[in-house]
Amino acid sequence: MEEGARAARDVVALTDGAVGAYVHVPFCERICPFCPYNKVVAEEGLARRYFAALDREMAWYAEALAEAGRGPFTSLYVGGGTPTLYPDALERVVDALPTEGERAVEVLPTHGTAERLARLAAIGITAVSIGAQSFHDDVLRRLRRPHDAAASRAAVENALGRFATVDVDLIVDVAWEEDAALAGAFLDDVRTCFQLGVDQVSTYPLMRFGYTPFGRVRHDRRREHEVLRAASALAAGMGYERRSVWTFNRIGSTPYTSITRPRFLGMGAGASSFAGRDFLVNHFGVQAYAEAVEHGRLPLARRFHLGPVAGAGYDSFWQAYAGGVDVGALSRSFGPVPSGLAACASRGLALAGVMRPVPGGYRLTARGYDVYHDLERRVTYSLIEPLWAEMLAEHASVPGGGWASPGSARGGSVWWLARHLFERS
Ligand SMILES: C[S@@+](CC[C@H](N)C(=O)[O-])C[C@H]1O[C@@H](n2cnc3c(N)ncnc32)[C@H](O)[C@@H]1O
Ligand code: SF4
Repeated sequence: MEEGARAARDVVALTDGAVGAYVHVPFCERICPFCPYNKVVAEEGLARRYFAALDREMAWYAEALAEAGRGPFTSLYVGGGTPTLYPDALERVVDALPTEGERAVEVLPTHGTAERLARLAAIGITAVSIGAQSFHDDVLRRLRRPHDAAASRAAVENALGRFATVDVDLIVDVAWEEDAALAGAFLDDVRTCFQLGVDQVSTYPLMRFGYTPFGRVRHDRRREHEVLRAASALAAGMGYERRSVWTFNRIGSTPYTSITRPRFLGMGAGASSFAGRDFLVNHFGVQAYAEAVEHGRLPLARRFHLGPVAGAGYDSFWQAYAGGVDVGALSRSFGPVPSGLAACASRGLALAGVMRPVPGGYRLTARGYDVYHDLERRVTYSLIEPLWAEMLAEHASVPGGGWASPGSARGGSVWWLARHLFERS
């Protein structure tokens, strides 16, 4: 048996419950300067090599899950980069990873034509996340997006009725909302989504990772809270509700997200896996990723052993992002001590007005959404940015890498502490 297949068995053995699949496609036609994700400019030869390696990695994990009697995957999410650049590869992903629940893919608006979306539906995709960002040309120009407002709208209209779930990504940058020409653009975009009848609207504050050409900026947290609260008020009058820190859902629709699945196995360059007590990260560099798989090895680059207490902390953090904490689920996964600690922390947060008790756990209050918004931003800048900056350095030899300089990323004591406490070689 190949070393990679054996290692995939070991990773599956680390997971403690139902498992979702995440697949990363790290190629884009053009790089957007605000985007911190792992991607390079698409190039045919590199992509061919990449997808051959991805096929192998997916087979290792699918076999390992089946052998352990743990399949099929509960859900599949294909993100990027721009997965819709490669419809044939997407079909292979769907075939390789048996999935009983939703199969979702991120869609660049210029790829949201009726023909391309029909093909996605035909291969079994049930949910799409459309990267509209805005329905205003001046906002899209500021973001230097490769599409205009008409393309954002056409993609959403073409998707509606074709998939069980249609999500639209919007970006809010309150610094731009100061500009008289743009003031109100974000709320107008939210209203457009509600009027179109999408299932979910994801409202991301623009994160300024130091290593992107957009550089760093100070966030005006109070204005960010205000604008998201205004979106909540708009939602309430139009048949929608805030279901997580950054998502609004049509009442009655199923919430959908790439990051809040309880346990997931990540495949592809830059994908991560969360097994409950362990967090694993694949090589970001396309060549480093392909090379590892070609040598028969799982392409893992970093491993963080969180253990039960930090694992329960990580799990509750993402549960709370999605609106609340289920204490019973924590207890089943991590045992009485870590779940007791989480319950204590939730009780404290309830006293502070951040959460409210509900049967079996706690839900975020309106104030809780503000607090979590700030916390989420801090976690992004203090843990995700320095990790990704280090990993993106693997791209040094790839032309068109797209980032200004990994050296200008944030770092600091939280990242230093996390690495020293949890990282294993
Ligand atoms: C990585 S993109 C992938 C989909 C596709 N490539 C596209 O651009 O439409 C997924 C989403 O990430 C969000 N995103 C990208 N950069 C961001 C940033 N700096 N801050 C907040 N959200 C960001 C955007 O809303 C985007 O739709
Ligand atoms: S936001 Fe732009 S650079 Fe980032 S993945 Fe989407 S298309 Fe590529």
